[in-house]
Amino acid sequence: MAIQISENGRLFTLHTKNSSYQMFADPFGTLLHLYYGKRTDGENLSDLIFRTDMGFSGNPPEAGSDRTYSLDYLPQELPSSGVGDYRDDCVRIRHADGSCAARFLFDSFQVSKGSYSLPGMPSLYDTDAETGETLTITLREACSDVRVQLLYGVFEQADIITRALKVWNGGQTPVDLEKVLSMSMDIPFGDFDMIYFAGRHAMERTAERLPVRRAGVRIGSVRGTSSHQYNPAMILCSPNADEDAGDCYGFCFVYSGNFTASAQQDQRNQTRIQMGIHPDFFSFRLAPGEVFCAPQVILSYSSRGLTALSRSYHRILREHMCRGPWKHARRPVLINNWEATYFDFNREKLLAIASQAAELGIEMLVLDDGWFGKRDDDNSGLGDWFVNTEKLGGTLTDLSEQIHRMGMKFGLWFEPEMVSEDSDLYRAHPDWALTIPGREPNRGRNQLVLNMARPDVRDYLLERLTDILSNAKIDYVKWDMNRSICDIFSSCSGTERTGELYHRYVLGVYELLEGFLARFPHILLEGCSGGGGRFDAAMLYYSPQIWCSDNTDAVNRLSIQYGTSFFYPVSAVGAHVSACPNHQTGRSVPFRTRGDVAMAGSFGYELDLNQITDEEKEQVREQINSFRYLYSLTHEGDYYRLTEPGKDDFMAWEFVDENREHAMLTIVQTESFGNPVPIHTVVKGLDPAKKYRCLMNGAVRSGASWMGAGLTPDRILKQYESLVIEFVRES
Ligand code: DGJ
Repeated sequence: MAIQISENGRLFTLHTKNSSYQMFADPFGTLLHLYYGKRTDGENLSDLIFRTDMGFSGNPPEAGSDRTYSLDYLPQELPSSGVGDYRDDCVRIRHADGSCAARFLFDSFQVSKGSYSLPGMPSLYDTDAETGETLTITLREACSDVRVQLLYGVFEQADIITRALKVWNGGQTPVDLEKVLSMSMDIPFGDFDMIYFAGRHAMERTAERLPVRRAGVRIGSVRGTSSHQYNPAMILCSPNADEDAGDCYGFCFVYSGNFTASAQQDQRNQTRIQMGIHPDFFSFRLAPGEVFCAPQVILSYSSRGLTALSRSYHRILREHMCRGPWKHARRPVLINNWEATYFDFNREKLLAIASQAAELGIEMLVLDDGWFGKRDDDNSGLGDWFVNTEKLGGTLTDLSEQIHRMGMKFGLWFEPEMVSEDSDLYRAHPDWALTIPGREPNRGRNQLVLNMARPDVRDYLLERLTDILSNAKIDYVKWDMNRSICDIFSSCSGTERTGELYHRYVLGVYELLEGFLARFPHILLEGCSGGGGRFDAAMLYYSPQIWCSDNTDAVNRLSIQYGTSFFYPVSAVGAHVSACPNHQTGRSVPFRTRGDVAMAGSFGYELDLNQITDEEKEQVREQINSFRYLYSLTHEGDYYRLTEPGKDDFMAWEFVDENREHAMLTIVQTESFGNPVPIHTVVKGLDPAKKYRCLMNGAVRSGASWMGAGLTPDRILKQYESLVIEFVRES
């Protein structure tokens, strides 16, 4: 039983293979959090709750004269708000009389087979391999007709618990929601570090680790997207946790807009963890009878360190979030013309790249920005999704057919959510752009953002996408989004609803993506937002791969891909070999290394193949063969981080297949010194009792020996050189 309920219906235990999560509705109706950690037998752990009379921690009226009962320190699942819990609240409601108090009391529960879904938003879905179970706990607000449903999904075998919530206005007057997070949880004991993934455009998801103390650690985005600056995922772990040992909790937000995520110790050293839509620039008016759904958070616990935690996320996102025919199908090796030509291309240039690509075995040409409207730089044309036949020297139909005749697939770039002021679309519909009347809008990349909350905007975009995609042979779409959002003003539903707009924008994007996939289910979609500015679990529901970063420098990519790997599977990571000196950093790295780094992702090229040497062309052929041969190992196998950026003078990672028959370890030398000492790395994930042959030197040793004594490369690597070492099981 994944969901265990006590006889009196007040003690709830969720079990996964290796973890248990327990809650208890106390006699006053407060839903207390008792435990999340190693699997238990589900015994009642409410004796862990320690009550005391603490000064300046008041008592709710139902406690009467009992001064030991305080919402200010009880560990809760849905903290009440404005009634004596002075820590961060989770759901803040402004009632019609202007008051903001909310005391949430246990009302009822329901258990159902199958996982829950949230209208208009992605969430984990059931598969033949595993069907989830759902516990719904309803709480009522003590003095109004507002109800909150806490949703708990359990994927027992996958070691995953999900949380989401719904707020329902059952009263006669509207209420304003001023804050609705998706989850709050108080861990009563223990000190934790928080690991989060921060950065900037072209340098996303750098892992950082901070101790959580009373000042708290908080990340988030108010940019309208999940952002380059902070990824919507975090890990809480014991201070000594590393890849192989220690308690780790993961929290991954299934949402692509503004978010907040935090962990903070309270006065009694309990840790409150929260995740949800950012309360800044947010309010939502809930009319009588209306329901607001907060997006899903995916939780996982590992007592065996970070690698095991990552594995749970890789599997659940790959199997229960990514959808469609491309979920497991091998992705085509592509060549994208962006870094080869930028906007400066014509038919001849494209065909020259394509024919060289076809000759080398590349499987798809992707035509990036600049094929539509008037778009020879990034100052004009967005919104005018009409083929520029003059620039293309003919129709897209012709071009796509010609590419197909070369034996390749054809992909196309779009940036549907944006509009240039210098475009026919903007001239016809200036009111479709997000601007505030009376204020000159802020521009990002000299472009404005379309109001995706408007149905007429979505209709226009779907009609344009449909027209282009049904009139040419298109197998792949890169869906880009190249600025952060501001100037929020609701021109369609009145100023009082402006606080809803950021969220309605995200729902609008999801609706358009859903409509697009319904019409073109065969198309492989690659998400993008200036690289990885919208690299989140929710986007994986639509696009099984996302362009990881605009930074294609193989050395910078080591830390970007390292940070990305904590939550997201390799199959989701778009990674390309580009030209050197690298366009973002000016660094030169051997062609082989560029390939070995991009091989830890959905692989492709982004350079002019006519500009590379014959030797490099030969390497392209070899890389494509390797990618095909290693595909199931890299895209479905288990991933191990063997080093941390900046700690050693090399980076190493490893893949091991499910049956532990085949492993591949990649090393990249990041620093080099005179008279170098040999490097040494451990090997992970092998079967200790079996024998493995190392294809680097032919040595045969037991898995235990490779994992215990490790491996030393048989040659010194120069700076930026790489080495790929395979292990094959012999017994
Ligand atoms: C940003 C993307 O990340 C790039 O790969 C490229 O598609 C440009 N946009 C095109 O404008």
